[in-house]
Amino acid sequence: MINMERNLLITGGAGFIGSHVVRLFVNNYPQYRIINLDALTYAGNLENLRDIENAPNYQFIKGDITDEGFINQLFKDHSIDGVIHLAAESHVDRSIMDPLAFVRTNVLGTGVLLNAARNYWKDMEGKRFYHVSTDEVFGSLGETGFFTEETPYDPRSPYSASKASSDHLVKAYFHTYNMPVVISNCSNNYGSHHFPEKLIPLMINNILHKKPLPVYGKGENVRDWLWVEDHARAIDVIFHKGVIGETYNVGGFNEWKNLDLVHLLCKIMDEKLGRQPGESAKLITYVKDRAGHDLRYAIDASKLNKKLGWKPSLQFEEGLEKTVQWYLENQDWVQHITSGAYQEYYNHQYNVR
Ligand code: NAD
Ligand code: DAU
Repeated sequence: MINMERNLLITGGAGFIGSHVVRLFVNNYPQYRIINLDALTYAGNLENLRDIENAPNYQFIKGDITDEGFINQLFKDHSIDGVIHLAAESHVDRSIMDPLAFVRTNVLGTGVLLNAARNYWKDMEGKRFYHVSTDEVFGSLGETGFFTEETPYDPRSPYSASKASSDHLVKAYFHTYNMPVVISNCSNNYGSHHFPEKLIPLMINNILHKKPLPVYGKGENVRDWLWVEDHARAIDVIFHKGVIGETYNVGGFNEWKNLDLVHLLCKIMDEKLGRQPGESAKLITYVKDRAGHDLRYAIDASKLNKKLGWKPSLQFEEGLEKTVQWYLENQDWVQHITSGAYQEYYNHQYNVR
């Protein structure tokens, strides 16, 4: 399958994870034609892909996954035979402010893509529809235990409910229409090109500019962090080798309490910026908790390891250090994507007057 030619549609390729996935596929599969479809919302940025934008096997198309006529035509015009679907509204806090935007893009958009594939793929042989999903569909863990592929869905935010709905639609197309689907549910990613509304890049930016570091509640919530390039490698493996109709959990075996993570970032940055030890940690500010804040996520990724041989490659401290370095060297990127509408969101979210 890897050596065959393909017309591969990657949605959301101008976003954080999508840009790493597009880069990996463009570089590793010259025999594929990679079409990156992205609406370029506030989270999408073509600067993320400058290094590969002129590659002969790459094409960018601006468009909205909820636009049914456009998506149907796109499948025909480009003879799409594989889909890696990442386009989504991805930020939990925004889903609390505007849930319907998440229903529209994540539920309706996924439905439109599935239906376009069903209409166009008269013969399902050799086709593949891969939905990149989240561990948040499983809900919240207590102090112990892990999410496995058998954990029942229990989404609790509008974001996770919309991703759970889209997973269910993908599974329904498998059972009803024999659509060759595969799904992965991944934990929190970190790395370069991460939009600074999310915890790690937001904290890096605020530490650098000596702004308050807004920790929700008591900072006791736990997330399982994975280097984004390791997620992209997992997506490559699952797309090519995953069993049709199955799901795979992807995670870093790397749980951190938010407060401990923010302290670690402060330490790394104090050293890099030549500040006194403990200086940046003084910026930590406890703010109102996120509504319905899930306590703990932790992924058991042993199925992916045992069946498909994937495992994370990078230690967290090393990955965080590289991430901090990337943000320090790419302040123009940060300024560009955080100017304009993002400031309104930030001021509203963090009560800045
Ligand atoms: P992101 O917000 O950085 O990027 C999303 C991309 O989708 C953007 O480029 C945006 O322009 C595009 N997009 C949004 N609405 C669109 C529409 N209607 N039509 C076409 N394009 C549209 O998100 P991310 O963090 O890179 O996440 C990518 C995917 O991975 C999402 O499906 C998300 O649920 C999933 N995921 C993310 C994480 C994480 O930690 N970030 C973890 C697990 C799963
Ligand atoms: O688990 C996978 C999910 O991880 C993905 O599906 C989502 O797309 C992605 O955004 C991420 O969701 P989280 O809500 O876990 O990520 P976020 O970076 O928004 O928050 C991480 C933790 O940090 C969470 O417990 C909330 C907390 N937090 C976040 C922000 C933005 C703060 O304490 N302060 C903040 O300012």
